[in-house]
Amino acid sequence: MLTFLLNGETVEADVGPTETLLDFLRERRGLTGTKEGCNEGDCGACSVIVTGDDGVARAMNACILFMPQLSGRAVRTVEGVAGPNGDLHPVQRAMVDLHGSQCGFCTPGFITTMAAAHSNGATDHEDQLAGNLCRCTGYAPIIRAAEAASSEPVPDWMDESAIDAEPPFPMPKTSDELAAWYQDNPDATLIGGATDVGLWVTKRLQNLDKVAFTGRCADLQQIEETEDGLRIGAACTITQVLEAVKPLYPSFAEMLRRYGSTQVRNAATIGGNIANGSPIGDSPPALIALGARLHLRKGDLRRDMALEDFFIEYGKQDRQAGEFIEFVTIPKQRDTVKCYKLSKRFDQDISAVCGCFNIVVAGGSVARARIAFGGMAGIPKRATHVEDALIGKAWSEDNMEAALDGFAKDYAPMSDMRASADYRMQTAKNMLRRVYVESLGIPASVLEVRP
Ligand SMILES: Cc1cc2nc3c(=O)[nH]c(=O)nc-3n(C[C@H](O)[C@H](O)[C@H](O)COP(=O)(O)OP(=O)(O)OC[C@H]3O[C@@H](n4cnc5c(N)ncnc54)[C@H](O)[C@@H]3O)c2cc1C
Ligand code: FES
Ligand code: FES
Repeated sequence: MLTFLLNGETVEADVGPTETLLDFLRERRGLTGTKEGCNEGDCGACSVIVTGDDGVARAMNACILFMPQLSGRAVRTVEGVAGPNGDLHPVQRAMVDLHGSQCGFCTPGFITTMAAAHSNGATDHEDQLAGNLCRCTGYAPIIRAAEAASSEPVPDWMDESAIDAEPPFPMPKTSDELAAWYQDNPDATLIGGATDVGLWVTKRLQNLDKVAFTGRCADLQQIEETEDGLRIGAACTITQVLEAVKPLYPSFAEMLRRYGSTQVRNAATIGGNIANGSPIGDSPPALIALGARLHLRKGDLRRDMALEDFFIEYGKQDRQAGEFIEFVTIPKQRDTVKCYKLSKRFDQDISAVCGCFNIVVAGGSVARARIAFGGMAGIPKRATHVEDALIGKAWSEDNMEAALDGFAKDYAPMSDMRASADYRMQTAKNMLRRVYVESLGIPASVLEVRP
């Protein structure tokens, strides 16, 4: 039996392991304010507010949240955003006053996302709302409404906290528990944030009977800054990782700001982003450029490897049955990393090409270079020929241009709906040019050069 809070009331329900919150709300509770648009995390029409043990309200996509993930959580849907006496929440009042809604289909999703941001005092409204699509109002009135509401106090009915509940499905509380369970059940599917696995269910209509959730493993949800660097637990969300790397590697953080949307970053985990082996995942190229190591565990056996060695070929990773990612470590270093994500849409889009460069120049020459790309091969992959062509040479435009030939030896990219092979090759080269231009202090980002 699953126990959680729904709009302030305790709910107990028998649920399936991969039943989505969206289906539960609409089909079993008649809470049809939460809309189904894409059913794959892209449009934000199904956004709800989820409060966990830390008491922080987070916007999430109900369409790719599995019910067991909500055990003990407080969920608030659009029906629960107004006060018990029908008093409008400040974001609702502002949306009415500033004409933030026309057909209204997207509006419940905007209201819940805005209310979560309002509860947290977040004022980066464009980032907060990047995962909510509106096709008729236009975003300006909506952003104006979010701005207007931000100075209003958080209504007391929005105060919530998680409750104690026994989870209905395997949800280990420590990595030790997870290791023991997974060794005995190596055929099970591990679920982190379900931002990939959710789509296996909603789009591929797969049945997953045997699952375990990593979202309650306290030690896998920690990020530690040690003398040697950063140690990031596999169940840390991209939101957590973004906050941790912001002061250390701002270019990495800036790229993560464009990873999915607030809702996706609040669910997706770094372990899932690595384990899925996607050639276009955003964190692996940055982590490889930073020299990260991956730490795997099976039962009591642990091993670690350079992250790039985990990716063997498309769809194949160096991971055994019953083995899981425990954490990833980034060695301490001076920040020289530059991350560039190229996608058709600025926000909430998967990379066509993602290039990450860690080029250390000392005394005018390249002392070290680690360069890794997503979108250029079947796996996230280092550009070793380009690196070798740079290392030991003066950091000059001529040498940088000469190193560009290495790209054709390192990569044979494919053409697909995101980009042609030629475009990928050209833009990868241009990214190295961009590193060079920026090293001269010349702005190259579209955010810096536009008036
Ligand atoms: C709308 C949308 C936008 C997205 N945008 C981006 C984007 O901009 N950039 C990007 O890189 N990705 C993006 N993604 C893809 C997705 O968010 C990531 O790949 C995500 O990091 C997966 O993490 P998760 O925790 O949700 O994984 P899950 O879906 O829970 O799991 C994914 C895979 O990893 C395995 N797994 C999970 N944790 C572990 C572990 N600790 N050890 C071993 N195996 C494990 C699972 O068994 C599964 O095979 C997007 C997805 C959606 C739906
Ligand atoms: S229905 Fe589109 S994000 Fe959930
Ligand atoms: S008001 Fe119609 S889609 Fe936003």
